[in-house]
Amino acid sequence: MCGIIGYAGKKNAEKIIIKGLSRLEYRGYDSAGIAVLEKGDLHIRKKQGKLSVLADELKRAPLKGVTGIGHTRWATHGIPSDINAHPHPSGSEDIAVVHNGIIENYREIKKHLQNKGYLFRSDTDSEVIAHLVSDNYKGDLYLAVKGAVKKIRGSYAFAVVHRDEPGRIVGSRMDAPLIAGVGKGENFVASDIPAILDHTKKVIYLENGDIVDLSSQDLKVFDRTGRKARRKKDTITWDISQAEKKGYKHFMLKEIFEQPDVMRDIINTRLKKEKVVFQELSIKKKDLAKIKNIAIVACGTAYHAGLTAKYMIEKHTGIPVWVDTSSEFRYRDPLVDKKTLTVVISQSGETADTLAALREARKKGSSVLAVCNVVGSSIARESDGVVYTHAGPEIAVASTKAYVAQLTSLYLLTIYLAEAKGAKKADTDALVKQLKKLPAEADRLLDGYRSKKNPIAKYAEEFHKYYLARHNKSCFLYLARNINFPNALEGALKLKEISYISAEGYPAGEMKHGPIALIDENPWVVCIAVRSATYEKMISNIQEIRARGGIVIAIVSEGDREIKGTKAKYVIEIPDVPEVFSPALVVIPLQLLAYYVAAEFGYDIDQPRNLAKSVTVE
Ligand code: G6P
Repeated sequence: MCGIIGYAGKKNAEKIIIKGLSRLEYRGYDSAGIAVLEKGDLHIRKKQGKLSVLADELKRAPLKGVTGIGHTRWATHGIPSDINAHPHPSGSEDIAVVHNGIIENYREIKKHLQNKGYLFRSDTDSEVIAHLVSDNYKGDLYLAVKGAVKKIRGSYAFAVVHRDEPGRIVGSRMDAPLIAGVGKGENFVASDIPAILDHTKKVIYLENGDIVDLSSQDLKVFDRTGRKARRKKDTITWDISQAEKKGYKHFMLKEIFEQPDVMRDIINTRLKKEKVVFQELSIKKKDLAKIKNIAIVACGTAYHAGLTAKYMIEKHTGIPVWVDTSSEFRYRDPLVDKKTLTVVISQSGETADTLAALREARKKGSSVLAVCNVVGSSIARESDGVVYTHAGPEIAVASTKAYVAQLTSLYLLTIYLAEAKGAKKADTDALVKQLKKLPAEADRLLDGYRSKKNPIAKYAEEFHKYYLARHNKSCFLYLARNINFPNALEGALKLKEISYISAEGYPAGEMKHGPIALIDENPWVVCIAVRSATYEKMISNIQEIRARGGIVIAIVSEGDREIKGTKAKYVIEIPDVPEVFSPALVVIPLQLLAYYVAAEFGYDIDQPRNLAKSVTVE
């Protein structure tokens, strides 16, 4: 996964590209590079490390042209290094290419080109594109790209420039995101909208196989058959300020605090006279009524939202649900058919495994409903129906508000499915009523954590000291039952993603089957013990941990009395809501705990090592 951008206009390309890349760094940040066309020359600068390393180099020796391409990398083929960074030049250095994706047949193409005398410099798969375009070039960059894409297999979004055609950029995509931005006297290509939003709100979502050919004055799209394609221009309704930090130290913290508003916006958009309405859902309610089972497929945090949805949907609709990670689903010949509704959940809408799982489900006759944040993304477009989560851009790699947006949307979907299945109106009305209270409760919960010196920040500080005193032997265990069990997984995931501390999530009932062996004075155990049908069982788990010297952080419902008797070291209260709605609140202190622990260690919270926000490779 990488981020790419291309600019053709009249302004300084370097500045626009570097700013754009800074908005794409969530896609990868182990190296960055830029190519600018200037007075018949093609200048390439690329550097291992974060974008700031490249930006510093450019400050020392700026580039002046008005057309260029840029790249921020997340290594797949070849270690992060200057040479493996993009843009990749062709042998004669008259062509430069930036690429996101994986060229699956690159070895074959490389061998063929090497036999023809092409010299390769990097270990990347992407470099073959530069040489292939060069091999096909006969004076017209569009035709050269058209020839090259016929030979490559895999996923790609790339942009290419040629020294002899200043002012022109040609790009293409297949299974990796690429948008074109239409400005006044300037045009763009980019992996994602924030990269160009300072300059234009008009975008075209390119389709698989499209080739875009642009200059400052002109932008043409050709489909995979080579015909000129008419693609709709969409207007982006959100602002770049939504993608900026607004005074918060990190995007992650800002996004955590945005969660009540995200919930509120979703609920307000979806409830019309207290009825759930999915304006953009093209699957009819009467068809939903016929489904016999639901397969939920997703990765990472979205998978945890899917696991939570299983509890809600089964309880309130009676429809059996199973949940898979996309990478397992796609390769195990899943038993879905036309009676199955496959629900794919994805923030980015571009996760390669989820996209492949979606295609697999459709191939088997299942209808696919996407729960997706990014409008116009591949997953949204390839599904039979889509429910957008409207969380706005999520920039921090560790997902927070997208998760709560998924949960909120899935609550609404549950109510909608329950209605389709003929649930009693009084029951669905009661759910709607409770759901509407959630945003205010989330606000109230977060109010306790607005100051820098809040209790969770203090626990994190104490953990940090404890960890150092114990010679780094301390770790985290997260336990919960029932509908909050997925939150145990999510809490552990958040912590390990950004603080690199070993953390495991378990159903508390499984504690005796393994995790209890870990308990001594080293691990800190987060026990989710909110008011629920299994509350008493959680209390027993806490007693068992305490009896073995374990340190407990208990998450409880406001007003809980019993927990004090367990001698949990720290107690975090959340508003007392019905169990089914508690996951959307319980996760908030878990996110804050992960955030403050990582802050104590001084790690790069928004861009943790080895991770990327959008995983467009398998
Ligand atoms: C990556 C991200 C996670 C995300 C997962 C699924 O691993 O770092 O935050 O949950 O991909 O992404 P998706 O965009 O499909 O929700």
